[in-house]
Amino acid sequence: MTLVKLENISKVYNKGSESEVFALRNVNLTIESGEFVAIMGPSGSGKSTLMHLIGFLDRPSSGKYFFENQDATDLTDNELAGIRNSKIGFVFQAFNLLPRTTALDNVILPMLYSDKNSEAEMIQAGTKMLKHVALADRINHHPSELSGGQQQRVAIARALINDPKVIFADEPTGNLDSKSSIEIMNLFKQLNEAGRTLIFVTHEEEIASFAHRVLRLKDGEIIQDSRQ
Ligand SMILES: Nc1ncnc2c1ncn2[C@@H]1O[C@H](COP(=O)(O)OP(=O)(O)O)[C@@H](O)[C@H]1O
Ligand SMILES: [Mg+2]
Repeated sequence: MTLVKLENISKVYNKGSESEVFALRNVNLTIESGEFVAIMGPSGSGKSTLMHLIGFLDRPSSGKYFFENQDATDLTDNELAGIRNSKIGFVFQAFNLLPRTTALDNVILPMLYSDKNSEAEMIQAGTKMLKHVALADRINHHPSELSGGQQQRVAIARALINDPKVIFADEPTGNLDSKSSIEIMNLFKQLNEAGRTLIFVTHEEEIASFAHRVLRLKDGEIIQDSRQ
């Protein structure tokens, strides 16, 4: 099934002013469910902007966006937040964990937005997810007591907790040493082999080599789309 379809998407920041920036220009892109995609390109080429648009963190200036074959271009902010929370998991370069909160409480945070689950169910699900990312022995640790790679695994467990269709990761290994980076990419690989769609940004070829498809951006355009 087609998960993401962008038709002629452009994004202009500070439109009409002297500092107008075309971050994306007439991008056309289709991503199928189950793909493992790397987005590459120099700094400022539009990688994060593309990720934010596909992940409903921002809206395009023009063009059409279909998510699971439904036109998502004109959804309200509330509808977009609903899709974000139920269908999409995010992982960021800086981990973005709450500092004074245990690994477990960080992981179950997205479950708090829907009141479907009891506290016991949330604790059970969070514990299971931390086991899944090999952190069973770090459940009650705070982020400052964890290594960078462990913090990123907590962030991945959090991204997975609502069983999203797709995980978006913006430079997920950007703050990690090479050993932890490979560990994180192996975890992504496992998740993809289990059927999860994964889309990540990186500027390292070695990290991109884990993906099955690489999109290269330059000046807001996709200049290469290759399968490997
Ligand atoms: N909020 C913003 N306001 C104005 N310009 C922005 C904003 N975000 C990004 N840009 C500009 O848009 C272009 C693309 O940025 P970005 O998508 O962050 O690139 P990348 O992630 O590839 O480094 C850059 O020229 C950047 O300066
Ligand atoms: Mg970026």
